[in-house]
Amino acid sequence: MKTLFFSLLLLSLSIAFLAGCQNNKDELLNPPSDCDTTDVRYSTSIVRILQANCYLCHRAATNTGGPNLDSYALLAVQAGNGKLLGTVSHASGFLPMPQGGTKLNDCDIATIRVWVEAGFPNN
Ligand code: HEC
Repeated sequence: MKTLFFSLLLLSLSIAFLAGCQNNKDELLNPPSDCDTTDVRYSTSIVRILQANCYLCHRAATNTGGPNLDSYALLAVQAGNGKLLGTVSHASGFLPMPQGGTKLNDCDIATIRVWVEAGFPNN
């Protein structure tokens, strides 16, 4: 009887724990409610984020050591190998970007994620 009680307790704790993880994951995956990701395009949304946060170090004229990101083709390499999203979301195993600066806001990260997950179209 005691064993059954503890098994049930353990089971409900595991379920609560898993449900908690699920919620955290949703928070990370869903953009903030005031963030419009319905029409994300390379030429508008993505370039705007890069201009404000990345070109300072990542374009041919000013490159500080990382990859150039100042054309669609160059950015597509980093989008395809996972580094664009990994670096801006500060995922473990990636160099956090912008280097030495503040992490992008949740809406900018969500915008990049939506574009990468759509197959990073040149639009
Ligand atoms: C202050 C300069 C600076 C800024 C701003 C900056 N980066 Fe970087 N970034 C670097 C440097 C330097 C490296 C190379 C670091 C190294 O190889 O150790 C790098 C590397 C990278 C890499 C390659 C990582 C790898 O593992 O090969 C990516 C992708 C990247 N940055 C994306 C970005 C993005 C996207 C932004 C804007 C959100 C950004 N960076 C902003 C300096 C910067």
